[in-house]
Amino acid sequence: MKFGLIGCGAIGASRASSLQNTDKASLLSVFDSDASRRNEFAAKYSAKAPSSYIEMLEDDDLDTVIVSTPPNLHREHCIAAFEAGKHVLCEKPLASSVEDCRAIVDAANASGKVLGTGYNYRFYPAVAKARELISEGAIGEIVNVKSFAGHPGGKEFTHQWVHDPEIMGGGALMDNGIHLADLLLHFLGSADETHGFSSDMIWNFGDSEDNGFILAKTPEGRIGTLQASWSDWTGYKFHLEITGTNGGIKIHYPPMMTVHITRPTGTAKKGKRRIYIFPLFQFKERLRSYLWTIEQSFIAEQTDFMQRARGLGGVGATGIDGLKAVELVNAAYRQRCTHEKAAKVAAAETSSRAAIG
Ligand SMILES: NC(=O)c1ccc[n+]([C@@H]2O[C@H](COP(=O)([O-])OP(=O)(O)OC[C@H]3O[C@@H](n4cnc5c(N)ncnc54)[C@H](O)[C@@H]3O)[C@@H](O)[C@H]2O)c1
Repeated sequence: MKFGLIGCGAIGASRASSLQNTDKASLLSVFDSDASRRNEFAAKYSAKAPSSYIEMLEDDDLDTVIVSTPPNLHREHCIAAFEAGKHVLCEKPLASSVEDCRAIVDAANASGKVLGTGYNYRFYPAVAKARELISEGAIGEIVNVKSFAGHPGGKEFTHQWVHDPEIMGGGALMDNGIHLADLLLHFLGSADETHGFSSDMIWNFGDSEDNGFILAKTPEGRIGTLQASWSDWTGYKFHLEITGTNGGIKIHYPPMMTVHITRPTGTAKKGKRRIYIFPLFQFKERLRSYLWTIEQSFIAEQTDFMQRARGLGGVGATGIDGLKAVELVNAAYRQRCTHEKAAKVAAAETSSRAAIG
């Protein structure tokens, strides 16, 4: 499959590099609004460097486009690619608003081409192992999932645009939290009730929360919790705890680890634990940094995507999955209680008490 890449930034670099190591895939052309970047990529990966994405999409040899521009541009780039008859693998979040996500999904349906959303955590071996254990019935029926993702946040941690809600569509919940929103729905199924809280007391980015929380319930009564944090000063991480009727699973990264706990039987007070540590990932990540792990997940995701484009099933996130995760976060936003809102509510209550006397 011949790929085009729109957006040659940090993630675009990992996508380009991982495509070189994805069987049956090649990088045909690259586009970035920054000409020096696209030329640099084109030279490094022996790819074409058209001067507009429209020109890229006119190329009949091109099968699939990876969109790795900032989220507020995903709608424009994905829809143009579908109109040109290409498959699209779009980086997370699918778009910065529910409305834009729906427009992208509609364009995919109208074109008959395949849309995938870049929720690459699904391909981390610790998550894949959990999926395998669950499908084998190792923990019985899933009852609840608790999840956390954190990094230090702040202006220096990443691009400025990540803190701009006009571009991102939110704060921590749309950034690292969106991966968890996808994994919660992946393991639990759709939520029919959602509550959310968020605060921006640490970095004061305004409408871009630095900590966001979601409590969600499915129609079957399964419950999920999520915290996305931009104030974990111990570094980048995520973990999930999945509780089932007959046991539990803990997913941890970094280091990459899955723990399977069986429900105790008889007089035992503790369940048995089996720990999976994925030595290759532990070793390679020490040598080559977290970028190695990201690339491995991209290779697996791109392979899965190509399989779906051939009409076969896969475990990667579809366009609908991309939409559902953004819907979940936005349902939480509609209910959010920031400290400013809490202060206003408190002020209103104080004045009404004063009026009552
Ligand atoms: N899967 C993951 O774990 C993960 C991690 C980080 C970021 N992301 C997502 O990847 C995407 C890109 O993030 P990034 O960190 O690479 O950002 P980045 O800022 O490093 O790269 C974005 C690139 O898009 C280019 N660009 C901007 N406007 C453009 C336009 N109109 N046309 C063409 N190119 C344009 C920029 O010049 C830049 O090179 C975002 O959607 C982000 O949310 C995914």
